[in-house]
Amino acid sequence: MSAGECPFGAKVVDYFDHNSREYVDKRHAWYQQIRRDIGPVFWSPNYGGYWVVIGFAELEAAARDWETFSSKHVLDADGRARPLDGLRYEGLFVPPRPYSSILLEEDPPAWERSRQALAATFSLPAAERWRGRLQDLVDACLDRKIESGAIDFAKDISNIVPAILSLELAGVPTDHYQLVARNHHLTSHIPAGSPQLLELADDLAFERAQVVKAVEDHKTGERGRDVISVLLNARDKGTADFTDDEILALANLVIGAGIDTTASVLCNALQILTKRPDLRKTLMEDPSLTVTAFEEFLRISAPTQGLCRTVTRDVELGGQNLRRGDRVMLCFAAACRDPREFDKAEEVVLERKPNLHVALGSGTHRCLGQFYARLEFETILNTVLRRMPDFQVDLDAVKSFENVGVVTGFTSVPATFTPGAKLGVDPKVPGFFAGA
Ligand code: HEM
Repeated sequence: MSAGECPFGAKVVDYFDHNSREYVDKRHAWYQQIRRDIGPVFWSPNYGGYWVVIGFAELEAAARDWETFSSKHVLDADGRARPLDGLRYEGLFVPPRPYSSILLEEDPPAWERSRQALAATFSLPAAERWRGRLQDLVDACLDRKIESGAIDFAKDISNIVPAILSLELAGVPTDHYQLVARNHHLTSHIPAGSPQLLELADDLAFERAQVVKAVEDHKTGERGRDVISVLLNARDKGTADFTDDEILALANLVIGAGIDTTASVLCNALQILTKRPDLRKTLMEDPSLTVTAFEEFLRISAPTQGLCRTVTRDVELGGQNLRRGDRVMLCFAAACRDPREFDKAEEVVLERKPNLHVALGSGTHRCLGQFYARLEFETILNTVLRRMPDFQVDLDAVKSFENVGVVTGFTSVPATFTPGAKLGVDPKVPGFFAGA
């Protein structure tokens, strides 16, 4: 492992590869060492070279300046970068993916169209209206395990509830929720170009076909408060003009964005509470603290490690000279532990105030689904603390994703607890009890 200077004067860290196996276990130690030895911005020579921003102030400055740090992803019909104004805009991922995402990989003013159309559906009051539904889902998941005294917090709840809720919010039937959870879990950490992605092709095609069918069904059938309904209603009223393909893409984005991210912060929180009985006691005595706890658990274990931008003009950032056309990864998880911004940055401090972390992004693209993420976290954590108060995660048996890529997460978080009684809740999800 080495670090140094390169011909264009950048501070280089040649071992830094966010898709590597080593990154899974060593990333926070790397961030600390690089921060100490190199600084808040450095160059990784991997994947043709990209800058990495790990400083809080530098990341915020970049995330808020979309004109200099563009999210745009401009492709030709074959999924290759198509030059525009002499630049290759390659979107949010390194290496770039062969498709682009509406909203997430757009800059204003194009970005505003979808963001505004979805604003009401993703507001706090709109999210609150899902509280009862969510509570039923959570109780039904716990019912399947409560009498046995053993649960896998990843497989039995954290990977399930966000998948079902995201599908319902998008407006897509939930009977294939397990396949969707698996697809998004795998695609979030397998790098573009990997043969593993080819093996998923059929499952991804099946999932896409379900969303296509859902859009068609909504045209003639009943509509509700979901994303497909809202966008079709707006089109019918003439207040927005989304094509079928765009509605499909937005539904897919909503399904994909909230599954692994929410599961990851929950699984981390449950592990932290096993190691820190004092925190568990505090939360059990006052469940309203889960709201502030969510912010701190997000800060300390930010699921989205980093997303990229394309630099549109020569610019200085954190003492480094970024050139027009360079790629730069905004490393949210590292910035969340920047000691220049947060006292005791490596520790969980539940009552931290203010806690202006960047785990949900910052600036233009700040997470659209944040109120749903909060609601899911709060509902699951409080219900687990109420129904399985003495749970103990078997920390030695926890299994993380094989590699991280974009989102950190877990395939298994087994735990034991004193058995309890079922509540007998029917989650109204086809095949739910068969999948236990
Ligand atoms: C703890 C859970 C979550 C985390 C950590 C998280 C993280 C993020 C981050 C870091 C971004 C910024 C992307 C950027 O700057 O390029 C983002 C954007 C976004 N998130 Fe989340 N997210 C979470 C949950 C959700 C949920 C539950 C949904 C949907 C129900 C969602 C939907 C979105 C969407 C649509 C965007 C794109 C916003 C835009 O480009 O304007 N997220 N999220």
